[in-house]
Amino acid sequence: MMKKIVLIICLGVLSGIPVIPQESPNYDESRVPSFSLPELLITREGKRISTAAEWMEIRRPEILSLFENNIYGRIPGKLSADFRKVIEQDNNALGGKAVRKQVMLNFRSNNRDLKVNLLIYLPKTGSKVPVFVGYNFDGNQAVVDDPAVFVTSSWIRNDPASGITNNRTTEKSRGTDKTAWQIDKIISSGYGLVTLYYGDVDPDKDDFTDGVHPLLYKDGQTMPLPDEWGSIGAWAWGLSRVMDYLEKDPDIDASKVAVIGHSRLGKTALWAGALDPRFAIVISNNSGCGGAALSRRMYGETLGGMNRYFTHWLCDNCSRYDNDVNLLPVDQHMLIALMAPRPVYIASAEEDKWADPKGEYLSGYYATPVYELFGKQGLPSPEMPPVNSPVMNTIGYHIRSGGHAVLEYDWDQFIRFARMHFGK
Ligand code: GCU
Repeated sequence: MMKKIVLIICLGVLSGIPVIPQESPNYDESRVPSFSLPELLITREGKRISTAAEWMEIRRPEILSLFENNIYGRIPGKLSADFRKVIEQDNNALGGKAVRKQVMLNFRSNNRDLKVNLLIYLPKTGSKVPVFVGYNFDGNQAVVDDPAVFVTSSWIRNDPASGITNNRTTEKSRGTDKTAWQIDKIISSGYGLVTLYYGDVDPDKDDFTDGVHPLLYKDGQTMPLPDEWGSIGAWAWGLSRVMDYLEKDPDIDASKVAVIGHSRLGKTALWAGALDPRFAIVISNNSGCGGAALSRRMYGETLGGMNRYFTHWLCDNCSRYDNDVNLLPVDQHMLIALMAPRPVYIASAEEDKWADPKGEYLSGYYATPVYELFGKQGLPSPEMPPVNSPVMNTIGYHIRSGGHAVLEYDWDQFIRFARMHFGK
C-alpha cells in the first residue's frame, strides 16, 4: 500500500499533476465506467420540464437543495458585515493607470469578529466599471508587485521555501502569484479586479473552530451538522458578502460582476454562482472534481478520494457516496445548469488530467438543454474542441496546452468572454 502511494506521488510530480496520494487514479479513457446521469429536466415528482419558467420555479430549486444537502452543505444562517470601510485608497496606482482601494469588511457574531480584506483595482474610466472578483491563494500581496498592498496576517499553510513559517506570510511573497492575475491586462481592457485571500474567510484546514463557521454556530455547537457548509460553502458565502459590498461601491457596476476561481477556488466560484444570481458571469478554471468535472466518470480525482484527503471542503453528508458515486442524486452538469441563463465559462488544461478535462467539458455539454430552454446556446457537441480553440457561446469552454494554473492565455479568453456578454 505504502509503495503504491509513493509510486503515485512520483508519477504525479513527473507529470505536473497536483500530488494527492490516491490509490490508482484512473487516467485511461477506456476504463471510464459506463454511467447514467441523473435527469436534469425531470422533477422529483416525475414531471418533464419544458419551459424556462418551469425550470426556474420547480426544477432549479430542487436541484439547488440537492447540492446543498449532499455536496456543499447549507449555509446555516444570515450574517452581513457590521461595517465596511475603505482603509486605503490611491487614485494613481499602477503607475497612474488605476485606482487602488483596500477595503475591510468586518463580521461580528457569537462574540467573535471576522475581518475580510479586499484588494480592488479599477481602471480610470470616469464611469462605473465591470469587475472580475475572485479569491487568491496566497494573500492579496501575492497578486501584484505593489508595495502598498497590505500583507495578509491570516493563517496560511507553511512553506519554508517561500518564507512562510509559523503559518504567517511575509514581504517575500509580494507579487509571487502575479502571472495568475494579469492585473495590467485586466485594467487596460477596461475591467476592475476585486480579490481577497480565501483564508480570511476560512483557513484551509480541517478545523471548524476558526474562520466564519463559529460565527453562525447555535448554542453549544462546535462543528457544522452533516448537511451544513464545509469550507467551499464558507468561501462561496464570502463571495456573496463581497458582492454586497460591490453593490454599494459607487465606482463599480454591480450588474457586471464576473466571479472567477481556480482549482478549489474554481469549485467555489461555481457554487457561489449557483447560490447567488447577482454574479452575472461565472468562470471556473481547472476546477475538476467537485467543480465542473462529472463525478461519475471516475477519471483522475474522485469524490471519495477528495473527501478522504480534504475532509473539510464538502459537507459530511457527501461521504455517503464515497464508495458509490452513482447513488448521488446529482452530478456536476446540474451545477453548471444552475447558472442558466447566465454565461458560464469552463476552462481546462491539457496536462491537468487530475481535474479530468473531458469531464469538465461534458458538464457543459449535458447542461446545455437547460440553456436551450432560455433560447441560449450552450456546448452543442459532445466532442471537445481541439486544444487552444475556445468555444464561446453562453456556455464557454477551452482546453489550453500546459498544466494546472491560470495563465495569460486563460485571461485572454475570460476577458473576451466578458466582453461578449457585457457588451464592451
Ligand atoms: C488538489 C485537489 C483538487 C484541487 C487542487 C487545488 O489537487 O485534489 O481537487 O482542485 O488541489 O485546489 O489546487
